Amino acid sequence: MTPIDAATFRHALGRFPSGVTVVTVRGDDGRDYGMTVSAFASLSLAPPLVLVCIGDDATIAGAVAAAGHFAVSVLSQDQEPLARRFADSDADRFAGTAVVRGVSGLALLDGAVAHLQCAIVARHRGGDHTIVVGEVIAASTVEGGRPLIYELGEYRRLR
Ligand SMILES: Cc1cc2nc3c(=O)[nH]c(=O)nc-3n(C[C@H](O)[C@H](O)[C@H](O)COP(=O)(O)O)c2cc1C
Repeated sequence: MTPIDAATFRHALGRFPSGVTVVTVRGDDGRDYGMTVSAFASLSLAPPLVLVCIGDDATIAGAVAAAGHFAVSVLSQDQEPLARRFADSDADRFAGTAVVRGVSGLALLDGAVAHLQCAIVARHRGGDHTIVVGEVIAASTVEGGRPLIYELGEYRRLR
């Protein structure tokens, strides 16, 4: 069977709307690392597990590989600028970004509709990504907060 071309694959995936998160880790150097991630999913209720998929070429990949914890900030519909900034290779992502500190000093983006703090319990290879599995050790939500949506390559709001 011939493999499908990348454009067809991306186009089909674009029909699946997702929320938008920023995944953060604390590096061994004490610095914050963060990236916009839509490949986030719930995995298990007992124990409470989630997963994120991190590309091998992502600049935060090394920090994630060395980290014991990660945090997920689920962006609100007003945080499209942060989604763009944390996906921009040239941006100083944390400059001017309001954060609160979680366990192990993890950066949690202020204004997010939910925060999940996770202890990394497994890593699996998946093509050119690593599937990072985290046990959720703390979670908080903002009641009434509306999430940012990504669909067909565009940021959208729920009606
Ligand atoms: C909406 C959106 C979702 C993304 N989701 C992921 C993802 O799930 N996993 C991933 O590795 N990169 C994802 N990216 C790409 C990274 O955010 C980032 O743009 C890319 O790694 C380049 O940044 P870098 O030079 O710091 O690696 C996404 C980008 C956007 C705009």
